[in-house]
Amino acid sequence: MQRVFTVEEALLEACNNIIDTNNLVRVVLSGRRRNMQVEQERIDIRPVEIKGQVILQLTYNDGRATTTKNITPDATSVLDLLSSGYANITVESVDGAMSIRVTKSGDAQVHYEKKAFEQNLLHDKKKTRLLDPSDPFLIEVGIADYKGQIKPSKNDKYKQVEEFLRILVPTLKAAIEAGQILEPTAKKPLSIVDLGCGHAYLTFAAHQYLRNIGMPVHVTGIDIRPASRDRNNLIAEKLGITESITFRAEEIAETSTQSADVAIALHACDTATDDAIAWAVNGGASLLLIAPCCHHDIQKQMDQSPEPWGAITKFGVMKERMGDLLTDALRAQILRIVGYRVEIIEFIGGEHTPRNIMIRAVKTGAQADSLDIVRYREITTQWGVIPALSKKISSFTIS
Ligand SMILES: C[S@@+](CC[C@H](N)C(=O)[O-])C[C@H]1O[C@@H](n2cnc3c(N)ncnc32)[C@H](O)[C@@H]1O
Repeated sequence: MQRVFTVEEALLEACNNIIDTNNLVRVVLSGRRRNMQVEQERIDIRPVEIKGQVILQLTYNDGRATTTKNITPDATSVLDLLSSGYANITVESVDGAMSIRVTKSGDAQVHYEKKAFEQNLLHDKKKTRLLDPSDPFLIEVGIADYKGQIKPSKNDKYKQVEEFLRILVPTLKAAIEAGQILEPTAKKPLSIVDLGCGHAYLTFAAHQYLRNIGMPVHVTGIDIRPASRDRNNLIAEKLGITESITFRAEEIAETSTQSADVAIALHACDTATDDAIAWAVNGGASLLLIAPCCHHDIQKQMDQSPEPWGAITKFGVMKERMGDLLTDALRAQILRIVGYRVEIIEFIGGEHTPRNIMIRAVKTGAQADSLDIVRYREITTQWGVIPALSKKISSFTIS
């Protein structure tokens, strides 16, 4: 059934349906009313129960990250939101849905549908876990306790590792499908090297997860600290997996490991990240997933900012962020120039680590685009910086 109302009447009815949280299932706001601006392109809303109280959980995505925000289901807050400029509003309740479309002429066309929807008030709709907290490897590496529960102090690391895997696995499968990586076999397993592996949370996780999905794999963890190697090798022994996982105490830049199909690094410090990227490229790795850590190399070189960027770098905190951006942007340029397709993504929300950027690079062997070369030259010349990475990759010859 469809009817036409004034916008005010339609929004009031939608508001009443939304604040009826006993029956509300979900709400979607999208589109933009004529001559109005909205902050988010789309907002999804659902009622969730937290500590015995039902609130409205708003979820939106700005193209980089998904944000959630809670509001109380009171008429004022809801009506404010509904009136903020969205052209399409769908409200689903347990016994039916109403959809409002605000037309260009300012009317509200309202469509009603009788249908049963199921309400789910559970907070934090569970993402399917990739890593079972009671998996013995999580207990052995110290992320979970002996009851198989994630230790509160290790929750962020657990999330980082899991989100890293969420990107690794589909990227890997896509690269195998595209023929960029040979289908791994028992005779020739996929080789993965984790550079700056530390306590090897990610190293073990990648190994266990890929083996569990039936992918033959050999994983190597490299860290400069002999204590890490010894601890990790001991854990591998306990888990009975020493045939397919190895740890070495070596400097990344001088490792005896020659090459790998996939290079991963999670928060290898400062230029150790550059060593990791350079090692991967020099050895011809097909896939790189690198989440950088602190950045000092470029920051130390940023003595004089080209104008008008002084407007940013005169503030210490912004200079630091600018240094981070320049570092990763130049890493991406270099990788593109030496034949990798590169994306820079957020692999996890900032609440779990401020170092939440990931460089994802897939080797395509494509010729360098002249625009990438020009951009690289312009940025380095204007800022008077020479990225550490540029000196470490043998095939990178641009000065
Ligand atoms: C911040 S920790 C991260 C450890 C691990 N990837 C994680 O996310 O839990 C950085 C690790 O890199 C190692 N590291 C730093 N520079 C290195 C280098 N040049 N060669 C090898 N390892 C290095 C450190 O010993 C440390 O264990």
